[in-house]
Amino acid sequence: MKKTILTRTTISKCSIDNHCLRCGKWASNPGVPGITLRATLLVAVIFVVISGDLWAEGSEIEKSSVDFGPLVIAHRGASRDAPENTIAAFRLAWKQHADAIEGDFHLTKDGHIVCIHDKNTKRVARENLVVKESTLKQLRALDVGKHPGKAYKGSVIPTIAEVFSTVPEKKKIYIEVKCGAEIIEKLLSEIRKSGLKREQIALISFNKEVIRKFKTKAPDLKALLLVSFKRTKLGEIRPAQETVMKDLALCSADGLSASRQSNSKEFIKKVMTAGYEYHVWTVDDVKTANRFKELGAMSITTNVVGLMKQNFTKQNRPQLQ
Ligand code: G3P
Ligand code: CA
Repeated sequence: MKKTILTRTTISKCSIDNHCLRCGKWASNPGVPGITLRATLLVAVIFVVISGDLWAEGSEIEKSSVDFGPLVIAHRGASRDAPENTIAAFRLAWKQHADAIEGDFHLTKDGHIVCIHDKNTKRVARENLVVKESTLKQLRALDVGKHPGKAYKGSVIPTIAEVFSTVPEKKKIYIEVKCGAEIIEKLLSEIRKSGLKREQIALISFNKEVIRKFKTKAPDLKALLLVSFKRTKLGEIRPAQETVMKDLALCSADGLSASRQSNSKEFIKKVMTAGYEYHVWTVDDVKTANRFKELGAMSITTNVVGLMKQNFTKQNRPQLQ
């Protein structure tokens, strides 16, 4: 297999080889061969000093990135508390200490990238425009601030540049491409213009061609294949595991981002053993989230960011062993 196996660990097992304590990044060597008890204690002490500094001096946002466990990704922003895929929803997600935001993107008729889930505006606005047949100006004239109360009245469909501009240092964005590969050139140009770092960006898509072309043009950027698993009337989960494994290889994905129905321990292990990352969506209850954490999910996409952050932060407070 071409991939290096990535693993996750807790503070008690953590080493500088596999998980950067400051930035939370994953590295490729899970083992700690030959490490002595003294060295382990030294690392633990250094960690306590460093993390203490961060908790004491860091911004509210930075505080959330010193804990462990899966990254908590705000699904369409803080979409339980604000209209989905709006700047208000993304800003609120950061306030709720999300590690990352997820948003859905389409290309307009005049070549702009906008943040909206469906291919038309029917569900989020009063008027129904088809995104790819409309100009940015037409789309921006719509009010997508539908939400109980009037707090978000007047919200507009954001451009991808506006969404990028909300992403704080050390936080990430998961860009879901909802249209076809025709978006890629423009997307890469927007990514370049954004000034975001490589590790702050991940592309996600159900469209294998989008992943394949993106990885061809930007092999250094992360791309995860989205797969929605369904149970058939006969009780089988589809697509089949072999199909998914083949698809991951064919489109050169870095990993799988799966719906929560794909929760078999064996399958998740198979994905990770083959060197792919495993991520899961959309999980809004703590019990299920904790199970996926145990199974090794690198991120959990949720509509309830505050609840998930509280859950993982509580579990992962650093402790000297
Ligand atoms: O993170 C993946 C998830 O967002 C895919 O489902 O329908 O919410 O875009 P959907
Ligand atoms: Ca999405």
